[in-house]
Amino acid sequence: MTERGAKVGSVLEPARLGVLLSGRGSNFLAIHGAIERGELPARIAMVVSNLPEAAGLARARELGLPARAIAHRDEPSRHAHEQKVLATLEEVGVEWVCLAGYMRLLSAELVGRFPRRIVNIHPSLLPAFPGLDAQGQALEHGVKVSGCTVHLVDEGLDSGPIVVQRCVPVEDGDTTESLAARILEQEHEAYPEALRRLLTEPWRLEGRRLVFGRSGVA
Ligand code: GRF
Repeated sequence: MTERGAKVGSVLEPARLGVLLSGRGSNFLAIHGAIERGELPARIAMVVSNLPEAAGLARARELGLPARAIAHRDEPSRHAHEQKVLATLEEVGVEWVCLAGYMRLLSAELVGRFPRRIVNIHPSLLPAFPGLDAQGQALEHGVKVSGCTVHLVDEGLDSGPIVVQRCVPVEDGDTTESLAARILEQEHEAYPEALRRLLTEPWRLEGRRLVFGRSGVA
């Protein structure tokens, strides 16, 4: 998987990212910051939100990035909404899709349009606590460590191959909010790191294990 990691001359061709979000967009901003600092050979070709009022979308516009609201509530069906999102991504030649707090499930069709090129971040150590309120689930379960996972997206819920994970301790006095804040700090490092590695290093899938490095090389 080296098309985007391949060198063109001696310069890495920046990958064209599409970011999908539904909320405040702090992970989107972490990715943007890494690009601006030259740490990620990518550019954000489009930011799409299914919620026009999402703070992340406003921030993208302030930053002068291409940004579009495609409100799911204005569409007659899930399929119709997704087709619009897909057309928008394809229109600007998006190569990698980054889910950054996007609160919609993707269909198998959309996943199939970007094979192994859709990345998500989830605020738990998957496969523990997929789905909504992962931090609340972790507290409720009584785990002593939690964290975040950056993974490739497949048709399941938070179920694709793991790229990067980061751990944080769960403290006795934690609330969902305090744990979420501790995890979020790690998310902001983990997401750019995972993208950087996917874009610049050779990697492959062995079953569901994502392995960095060339085949046969430790
Ligand atoms: C993050 O906790 C992320 O792990 C989850 O949704 C939240 C999005 O936060 N998928 P933000 O919008 O990136 O600030």
